[in-house]
Amino acid sequence: MESINSVKNRFLAEKKEAEYRLTVKDYQGAMPHLEKAAELLGEVYRRDINVQRREQYKRIREELRDKYDECKQELGMAPSSSSKPRQSTQRPAGPRPAAGGASQAKGGAPAKGGDQKGKGKQAEEDDGINYVVNGIDLKQFLASESREKDVMFDDVIGMEREKRTVKGELFLSEEEKAYKAQIGLKNKNFILLYGLPGTGKTYFAMALSNELREFSGEDIPFFSVVCTHLKSSHVGQTENNIIALFEFTKQFDRCVLFMDEFDAIGQSRQKNSGDPTAVTVVNTLLTQLGGFDSNPNLLFIAATNCPYNLDGALLSRASPKIEVPLPGAEVLYGTLKRKLGDLVAPDVDLSAVANRLAKSKFSNRDASNLIDEIKRKLFEAHRADDMIDKVDTSMITTALKEVKSSVKRDEEIALEEFKAQFAEN
Ligand SMILES: Nc1ncnc2c1ncn2[C@@H]1O[C@H](COP(=O)(O)OP(=O)(O)OP(=O)(O)O)[C@@H](O)[C@H]1O
Ligand SMILES: [Mg+2]
Repeated sequence: MESINSVKNRFLAEKKEAEYRLTVKDYQGAMPHLEKAAELLGEVYRRDINVQRREQYKRIREELRDKYDECKQELGMAPSSSSKPRQSTQRPAGPRPAAGGASQAKGGAPAKGGDQKGKGKQAEEDDGINYVVNGIDLKQFLASESREKDVMFDDVIGMEREKRTVKGELFLSEEEKAYKAQIGLKNKNFILLYGLPGTGKTYFAMALSNELREFSGEDIPFFSVVCTHLKSSHVGQTENNIIALFEFTKQFDRCVLFMDEFDAIGQSRQKNSGDPTAVTVVNTLLTQLGGFDSNPNLLFIAATNCPYNLDGALLSRASPKIEVPLPGAEVLYGTLKRKLGDLVAPDVDLSAVANRLAKSKFSNRDASNLIDEIKRKLFEAHRADDMIDKVDTSMITTALKEVKSSVKRDEEIALEEFKAQFAEN
């Protein structure tokens, strides 16, 4: 690790450079040096336990802030709320699709059916989509996340092979599509994502849908349904809900229907757990999925934590069946690096943390929860002493005492057995 004196020297050099630029009125040039000086000063502060010197660092930090504000004022920029020179932790700007889900469809009118009245700004509520089918308002089944997320494959850390698999199947040029049709090869339009809770099935499905939209240049809406919500205690209602949902998708030229917790409606007819409707519900699903030919532009993605409970006929239709695995150390390192970024002090060994998380079988959601907890620790420390603005090892250790892996051993074993029998990837 770099010695504290070396960090101090670098701080002094940055400060000197900033001061020189200020004397020649190069305010634009001074700002990055002020930012860097503030960052290095923060590191010195964190590592130096001498109380008097720490007070001195605080005073210097105030001077740096004043100078930074002066630059902003000279350049006609609005002062930031904290007026604090700090490094940006924002993701770099890049092309992004519009907000996900139903709102994706707002510019692109449905192909058939759908009431056209509400194009434009009221899109969330009145987006030109006909949600009422066979007297059932399908909005009640659509998950809110279908309207929020704008994740792309770049945001999905790891899973490179799986990304390639689905791209190879779904991202086809016009020539490739035509050739497939010519030789009578059907498109794959029923993908199954399975894996332990929190591994990223929903995240992957959303990213896939957004990528598909970007690839095709078409406005492909993404609808996410939590299957438990489709279930009803009234005889025949679950089946009616399923039929209405598939009917609903026919109003779009192309759309993605994502069914989360698919096992809730797709459980095996042989080993159904006393649910009298299980057989008719699965039969309805099979019929609707068989109707793909009349709706070839529907991409159906099902996700489940327990694929071993799914009906065999449904399983055999799904292809590819993609396992969304627990993240390895490399993926977890990428997540920590991306989400904590330069909030972390340089002497923190993130790869050691990632190894520990992988060993403890942290899912991606567990890792996200841990990162939130670490940030909370930083916030508390900063509130007590506003010179602290980096995550140190003790914050991580304390957070790790509070956030544990959610993976259950029996679920892991059951998945292993399923994989041995069905795995394609
Ligand atoms: N590959 C990934 N890269 C980065 N972050 C991820 C990845 N996968 C998941 N995450 C993060 O973990 C969170 C949980 O993922 P997600 O909700 O997709 O899991 P899931 O497998 O659908 O869980 P469940 O089985 O409970 O439905 C996401 O919101 C996202 O923040
Ligand atoms: Mg999910």
